[in-house]
Amino acid sequence: MGNFVELRFTSSPVHIFIVGFVMMAALACSGCNSAQNSDLTPEQRQLRTGKELFDKSCSPCHGAHGNGMGARSGPSLQRTEYRYGSGPAEIYTSISAGRNGGMPPFSSIYTADQIEALVQYTLYLRQ
Ligand code: HEC
Repeated sequence: MGNFVELRFTSSPVHIFIVGFVMMAALACSGCNSAQNSDLTPEQRQLRTGKELFDKSCSPCHGAHGNGMGARSGPSLQRTEYRYGSGPAEIYTSISAGRNGGMPPFSSIYTADQIEALVQYTLYLRQ
């Protein structure tokens, strides 16, 4: 008898309505997420890429957010004046070709776009 009641309930129009509503909500939510992603400007997306690469490859030496407190030697990147120049072109060369005092070259590890994202993130760290 209990089974019979349950069966009747699961196939009731109310139940179908609830299932439909939950599915619609799930669909609406996934739409929401992708809308949020495409809401980012190209600059914001580039900074996000730069931060991901920085956290992985640079923070061990330069510290979190380039604060100079990394486990290995790397100067703070939050200074306004850089030893090898503070403009985007000089920073690009520092990252791409490396510097004699222990900065490794990244030109064979990252694409030009990825290095550009790292340059923009480095500039952002100084603000
Ligand atoms: C193995 C440790 C190490 C890693 C990894 C590393 N750096 Fe460096 N970096 C250094 C050191 C040491 C210097 C100082 C070089 C010098 O003064 O000649 C430096 C210098 C620099 C400079 C030039 C600073 C100036 O004053 O001109 C920039 C820009 C820089 N690094 C960015 C980065 C970025 C971005 C990454 C990640 C892609 C990175 N570094 C990864 C150790 C590291």
